[in-house]
Amino acid sequence: MAPRAGFPSDAAALALDGDWHFRLGAGLHDLTPGFEDPSHDVTGWETVSVPSCWQLDGIPDAPHRGSPAYTNQIYPFPVDPPRVPDANPTAEYRREFTLPEAWPADGGRSVLRFEGVDSCFAVWLNGSRLGDGKGSRLPTEFDATAALRPGRNVLAVRVHQWSAGSYLEDQDMWWVSGIFRSVRLLHRPADGVRDLFVHADYDHLTGEGILRVDADPAAAGTEARVTVPELGLDLRAGETVRVAVEPWTAETPRLYDATLTAGAERVPLRIGFRRVRVEDGLLKVNGRRILLRGVNRHEWHPETGRTLDRSTMLRDIELMKRHNINAVRTSHYPPDQEFLSLCDELGLWVIDECDLETHGFELVGWRDNPSADPRWRDAYLDRMSRMVERDKNHPAVIMWSLGNEAGTGDNLRAMAEWTHERDPGRPVHYEGDRDSGYVDVYSRMYADHDETDRIGRCVEEPTKDPALDAHRRALPFILCEYAHAMGNGPGGLVEYQRLFEQHPRCQGGFVWEWIDHGIARRTEEGRAFFAYGGDFGEVVHDGNFVADGLVLPDRTPSPGLVEYKKVVEPVTVSVDRAACTVGVRNGQDFADTGHLRWLWLVEDAGELVAEGELAVPPVPAGESVFAPWPPELRTAARSAGTGERWLTVRAVLGKDLPWAPAGHEVAWCQERMPASGAGSAHRPTGFAPASAGGGSITLGPGTFDPDTGRLVRLGAHDMTGPRLDLWRAPTDNDLRGWGGSVAERWRAAGLDRLEHKVLGVAPGDGGLTVRTRVSAAGTDAAMEADYHYRVPADAPGRLWLTLEVRPVADWPFPLPRLGVRAALPAAFDTVTWFGAGPGEAYPDTRAAARVGRFASTVAAWQTPYLFPQENGHRADVRWAELTGAGGGLRLLGAPHFGLTARPWTSEDLDAARHPTDLAPRGALYVNADLAQHGVGSASCGPGVLPAHRLLPGPSTLTVGFEAMEG
Ligand code: GAL
Repeated sequence: MAPRAGFPSDAAALALDGDWHFRLGAGLHDLTPGFEDPSHDVTGWETVSVPSCWQLDGIPDAPHRGSPAYTNQIYPFPVDPPRVPDANPTAEYRREFTLPEAWPADGGRSVLRFEGVDSCFAVWLNGSRLGDGKGSRLPTEFDATAALRPGRNVLAVRVHQWSAGSYLEDQDMWWVSGIFRSVRLLHRPADGVRDLFVHADYDHLTGEGILRVDADPAAAGTEARVTVPELGLDLRAGETVRVAVEPWTAETPRLYDATLTAGAERVPLRIGFRRVRVEDGLLKVNGRRILLRGVNRHEWHPETGRTLDRSTMLRDIELMKRHNINAVRTSHYPPDQEFLSLCDELGLWVIDECDLETHGFELVGWRDNPSADPRWRDAYLDRMSRMVERDKNHPAVIMWSLGNEAGTGDNLRAMAEWTHERDPGRPVHYEGDRDSGYVDVYSRMYADHDETDRIGRCVEEPTKDPALDAHRRALPFILCEYAHAMGNGPGGLVEYQRLFEQHPRCQGGFVWEWIDHGIARRTEEGRAFFAYGGDFGEVVHDGNFVADGLVLPDRTPSPGLVEYKKVVEPVTVSVDRAACTVGVRNGQDFADTGHLRWLWLVEDAGELVAEGELAVPPVPAGESVFAPWPPELRTAARSAGTGERWLTVRAVLGKDLPWAPAGHEVAWCQERMPASGAGSAHRPTGFAPASAGGGSITLGPGTFDPDTGRLVRLGAHDMTGPRLDLWRAPTDNDLRGWGGSVAERWRAAGLDRLEHKVLGVAPGDGGLTVRTRVSAAGTDAAMEADYHYRVPADAPGRLWLTLEVRPVADWPFPLPRLGVRAALPAAFDTVTWFGAGPGEAYPDTRAAARVGRFASTVAAWQTPYLFPQENGHRADVRWAELTGAGGGLRLLGAPHFGLTARPWTSEDLDAARHPTDLAPRGALYVNADLAQHGVGSASCGPGVLPAHRLLPGPSTLTVGFEAMEG
């Protein structure tokens, strides 16, 4: 049937989800003749639940109906359009249903509606073929009127995994199949509406909404009417009214309940008034430039794949809103429509993207790309119209996207033209055609910071055609994908955000991507893990490239999400110490700050000194105020302390909102107060001597091996003392890289197999000096590393190490890390520290870490990235205590160090393929770093920015050690 809006209605409907009979065959040679015939006996068949993806049946144990397969770009079958392999898993679904006795017989139609079937299917009702469908993530309706019977009905559906449609569905995701969204039988009353289009414009100059609801058919016999009780409106479909309203925005998702009545049918509507325009080179909503703090969202659940229930969709939106995300690109297909309804209600800007990607053709030089072949034109238009028609009444949708990575060609232009004609109220997006001739925004993915800056200043490189170049240059710019969130990272968010805030043309972007598409599995011993590409024996696959989200598959926020939340804070708080004020800049585009409360606290060495609330009047969008410190804050800030004194200001929700409870923190800032007592540099009066004898060297609480100079005991605790460490288990961003992987260079230089040559162990009156040369087999590049251990005479329990490192010969690349590693008793499983936290932080992912006193278990310090890699580093640690049964160890900074602690080594992390490969080794491995290299986002995008690179050079690290007795 012709596409139309998805809308609820009070007309009769019958849900057909639930258990269906099911048989999976190997291909067209393996079908069940006559399975669609109601008399065909399927009682012996298995059952499957609808909706579901059949390859995930059995998860988290082994799948038993085929296997999911992951590829990014490459087609998992020969590129021979439109043909697909003979080995084409084909499922036969059967279910019976009883037509309710009250099913209306008013001369209307009965329609079978499939919300999503992957990838191609045919439908029979009571043996009559109703038709077939393609376009997996789009609805398909069949007229079932003639075939429907009173009482028992038999519905049969045959689904093929591969079809010509698969060539248009080459998104970077798992290949999974089946009836994966709901199925319903709908009664369409004879005098009801077939389709409706709500035009709810907003005139920001007058504050009026301009409403017209088009109903199709316009008025079949009875007149279709629309009522909006809250606005006192009762109008004919097709009639236009102007009325004062509150507009809809993602920040203020104001919806008006309305009803469309046509004959006996009543359709509930939720109307949001807003105007989206590209004007003056800017993307504007309700007359104002908006800033997109977005994320790309695939639909994914680790157990059900692309079948999502409402609570999972709601969870996504709550998590997004709680992390200051205001926009979603539905990469790369229209989501379950319920998701859009939730976006309308809770407020997110949405770019709704069509189910289209032909990226695999790039690997064959774009030969035969369907985008440029007229034979595919109808398929392209069909997909676009089905999306636009289904979703056109969602105020959250502010832009249509033609699809993703489908190259260039006239079929794309035709989609854009059709869309402009059908819905002039929304701009059209497509990234894949650099000329941007038929779209309304200039969109790119992974442009680096420098290029984004050039685009922001409108001085980007010209393209060939001057007319097209001029067109593009006048368009607003968005990064439809940036900041690839694979594994540890993404780094460099702060610098992107600065560009978005600096250049009006740069209207933000969408982090790639929301969720790691891991699949729940268990090892043979029953330990849970998340599988990625290759774990199901795929012939071609792209490994863990499918795990590149801001949330883990179970929707645990990753450190990257916490960082993004801080970077895209909708209000910016600052402290002016001299003026004794707190500055608040409202970076929102519409809402004032009336929903926020402003809490302050002063801590001394991490201990609370005083706290209170600031009076900040509501700040209008885009404006700033300065609030004076209350007297208690002035006093607390100035009174002398014993340690570092910090003022923290937090903006929290003043009341419960639909997406977060009162007290939820939205933004914060910190400033160090002048009253800080720390830094009163302690000057020891003298140092204890080191003494050799009895097969060891003793210095204060430390016992050393006389041959290697390594610390073997501190107080009562055995340890394997600190040694220079330059290695980290490469992150995904270290491993991959545009312009080469930095991890390959590290490995070639042998950073993972360094040898420590002892040049001298010299105990003396002032302490112990150990000289070493650290280098790898086959190279003359080395680090001279001198360890100076000292124990101050007035602090005899404290052992200080000063490590001096000098590079020798050539080190033409940044180092992963520079610091020391030691092994401590495994029993030390708890960590308390004063420094940055509570989460992990690296030089370019440091924004979300605040200075404070924190406690955690060592276990909770590990970030279980699906592919094991360096993680869990805590930055700017002043002191830390690692404790457990039998005591502990205190580490002291001079002033700061970076800290990781884990029950396995970096080498173990490097070798592991899944977190379940990691086994505790019976020691706690602790790294104290002078510095780490940044993280960047080179797994797909720019590497580490110059400011965050760890370049080799003469360096000095000082750390103190103190044993804590049990
Ligand atoms: C983009 C693509 C996404 C994803 C990403 C890398 O090129 O549009 O679908 O593949 O790269 O993760």
